[in-house]
Amino acid sequence: MLVSLTLAAAASALLAPASALPAQQQQQQQPFTIGPFQQQINPLKHLSAISPFFIPNQDPTPLPKGCHLTRVSLLIRHSSILGNDDEYEQTMGPFIEKIAAMDKDKIPEDGEWAFLREWKSPIVEENLENLSQRGKKDAKFLGKYIRKQYDELFPSKNEGDLKKNKKKTGASKPPYKVWTASSARDIETAKAYIIGSFPSHQSGDDGEGDGDVVQLVKVPNKARDWDRSLTPHKACDAFEKLSSLEPANQWLSVYAPRIRERLGGRMPKVVKELNDQDILAMQMLCGYETIAQGDSPFCRLFTDEEWLDVEYYFDVRFHHMMGYGSHLAPYLGMPWTKTAKHLLAGKDTDNDGGHPKAFKGLPGPKLPPNATHTQLLHPSFTHRESPAFVAVFLNLFNSTSHAHPASETPALDHRVPDRAWRTSHVVSFLGHIALERFHHKHNGDYVRAVVNGKHEIMSGCEDGLDGSCKWKTFHDWIDERAQRWSDWESVCDKKKD
Ligand SMILES: *[C@@H]1O[C@H](CO)[C@@H](O)[C@H](O)[C@H]1NC(C)=O
Ligand SMILES: *[C@@H]1O[C@H](CO)[C@@H](O)[C@H](O)[C@H]1NC(C)=O
Ligand SMILES: *[C@@H]1O[C@H](CO)[C@@H](O)[C@H](O)[C@H]1NC(C)=O
Repeated sequence: MLVSLTLAAAASALLAPASALPAQQQQQQQPFTIGPFQQQINPLKHLSAISPFFIPNQDPTPLPKGCHLTRVSLLIRHSSILGNDDEYEQTMGPFIEKIAAMDKDKIPEDGEWAFLREWKSPIVEENLENLSQRGKKDAKFLGKYIRKQYDELFPSKNEGDLKKNKKKTGASKPPYKVWTASSARDIETAKAYIIGSFPSHQSGDDGEGDGDVVQLVKVPNKARDWDRSLTPHKACDAFEKLSSLEPANQWLSVYAPRIRERLGGRMPKVVKELNDQDILAMQMLCGYETIAQGDSPFCRLFTDEEWLDVEYYFDVRFHHMMGYGSHLAPYLGMPWTKTAKHLLAGKDTDNDGGHPKAFKGLPGPKLPPNATHTQLLHPSFTHRESPAFVAVFLNLFNSTSHAHPASETPALDHRVPDRAWRTSHVVSFLGHIALERFHHKHNGDYVRAVVNGKHEIMSGCEDGLDGSCKWKTFHDWIDERAQRWSDWESVCDKKKD
């Protein structure tokens, strides 16, 4: 065990980055060759919502020729946490306890599984849902990356700099706002992002903003008119996560027994006591242990096929929970998108009532995000569900030109390799969707959707340059869809029977 840890550390040191890629990105070029077999893929890029931040594509899709950005709205999932409550309770916790209670003589004395004799997971109940150190670093990286990508849409770095300006220039405008849902992991992520994307005189010491040029705004998860735009599922009583476990576990019952059978040859006495959930637990722990301590033995103990199988498990689950398989998804994706459209239109004047001089803690949201027109880039931080809902509302990954469009119900008896619904590319930690409005000096205005740097077609709104959408078409298309999925109360209020 000690040896493989050292090797892994040495391997990542050798790969020391020339460019500033997130920790995750730096590891990916190196196939894991240390286990009992060669892995070609990096499992950390196939763990869906447990994948630490990575950029599926090296470079963001460039704008069509002759165009420049005018406004962008960004929806970003929080960064990596030290375990999810539900996953711990349902899956990882029972496995951890099982191994702890196991007669250690059942565990092989050597070979790749021997580590289980001494194994103590860093994933513990007390820290569940807390942002990790790595998550903070990654969010700061994202801040720099977004600044680089959208620099012209940020307030000038000179604003509010007392050394460069005799007079405070920031004081005449309302502050630039970053919005965040009110859970600690969202707030901490947003702060790290602000530190990464603004100079220190604007970010404030801990990332809450200096209050003059930059301000972090906390949107309470339960505030009725606000929560709908950042955490809509928390305002929708009919939304639930349990029923999606059923199809996912059905698929688990197809692939996990194959793994148990393979492992039976290596540690028969242990495997006798493992069930399907335990297999899933080990694959989840690869992600969370890496987030917590930089490495996990579990990442080297499954084959490529087995990683692709667990990735499919999450795709099945999230298809039903928050993707095209959920009839609630477009309703819940509507509020943020409508707000984004309004902000991208940017024609109303802001009437923010000035800016707060000084504040203690984060200010509450006096005005909804749709009232701000003084800024060109609108970032908001939220949970895994929102980018998925928005993907559905925008009809992404759902073109009939795909072999398996995202709205197709996933098979449960085999993996569908060429499916368009790949949640590892949508809802990894810091997964984000941007709606970009851009201008061509002869042809006018367009909008496109960009998911983690990659332009994705909004099927039905694709009459613009390079598969983007004309502004006017987008405007009407969003209104039409918002109308179609507007009856929130009738779908969200729990039926009383
Ligand atoms: C984890 O979160 C809990 C609840 O918010 C908090 O009390 C605790 O201090 C956090 N632990 C760490 C290590 O940040
Ligand atoms: C902005 O949001 C508020 C609260 O949700 C809503 O009442 C108002 O109609 C919205 N305005 C626009 C222009 O969308
Ligand atoms: C997904 O595509 C199918 C087939 O074109 C279409 O019927 C369906 O309405 C689309 N889903 C959404 C949410 O737009």
